[in-house]
Amino acid sequence: MTVSERTYSGIRVIIGDADTIAQIAGRRIIEAVKAAPDVALAFPTGSSPEGVYANIISSYRRRAASGPDPSWSQVRCFNLDEYWRLPPWHPQSYACYMRTHLYDWVDVMPNNIFYPDSLAPTAEEACESFESQIAACGGIEHVLLGIGANGHIGFNEAGLPRSRTHIADLATSTILANSRFFETVDAVPKQAITAGLDTILEARAVTLIALGSTKASAVRQMLTGPPDVACPASLLQEVADRCLVCLDPDAAGLLPEQ
Ligand code: F6R
Repeated sequence: MTVSERTYSGIRVIIGDADTIAQIAGRRIIEAVKAAPDVALAFPTGSSPEGVYANIISSYRRRAASGPDPSWSQVRCFNLDEYWRLPPWHPQSYACYMRTHLYDWVDVMPNNIFYPDSLAPTAEEACESFESQIAACGGIEHVLLGIGANGHIGFNEAGLPRSRTHIADLATSTILANSRFFETVDAVPKQAITAGLDTILEARAVTLIALGSTKASAVRQMLTGPPDVACPASLLQEVADRCLVCLDPDAAGLLPEQ
C-alpha cells in the first residue's frame, strides 16, 4: 500500500497499512538508538505497538550476526505505565509485556530498564522515584505512544487535570478494553501508575501509532480538536513539531480530507 502524508494542527501524519507504519515507527526508534547509544526511550504496551516492537527485533536480529547494530547495551528504557499492585512477574503486568515484546530480544541491560514500581510502599513513592529516574537520565528523548479510544495516552484518562507521574483511576472504557487480556473484567486492576501528560510532553520526540476504526474518533479529536484534557492526546498539538503520528486507514477514517 502506498503511504500518504498529511499535516494536521502542525503534526506530521503518515497513513499506511499496519505493517508499513509499524516499520516507519520502528525505524524512528532504531535511528534514535543509532544517534545516541545511551538514549532514554519510553514505551507503551497494548496491541498497537506490537508491530513496532517486532520490526525493531527483526532489524536487530538481522544485524546481530556481525554484532548488534545498533546495540541496546547502553539504552535506557522506561515503561510508560504499570497496573498498581500487579507484581512485575505477573503475566499481565506491563513489566512482563515489555520483557516479552522487546527487552528479552535485544541486549538492553536489566539495570537500564525502569518501570513504575507497582509494589512501592505508597503510590507517591512510586511516582517520585519514577520521576527521579527520568530526571537522572536527562529526560526522555523519544516516547512511543498508543492512544485509547477515549483519547488517553499512557493512562492519562480523559478530562483529568494534566500532571506528572501519578496514580490514575482507570476509566470504565479502559478497564473493558483491557479485560481482553484477563479472565474476567473484575480481574483487571482499577488503578495504574502512569507517566503524566507533562512528563510525556517533555520528551524531545514523540511517535504515536493508532490502528483500527475504534481509534478513529479519538484520532480526529487529537489532530483537529482544540488541545484540551477532554482528549489528552490533543495536547500533543502543543509539541507538534516533535511529533509523528502513524495511522492505518481505519484509524484515519474520520479525518477531514486534505
Ligand atoms: C498502555 C498505554 C495505553 C495504550 C492505549 C492503546 O501502556 O500506554 O495508552 O497505548 O490504551 O492500547 P491498544 O494499543 O491496546 O489499543
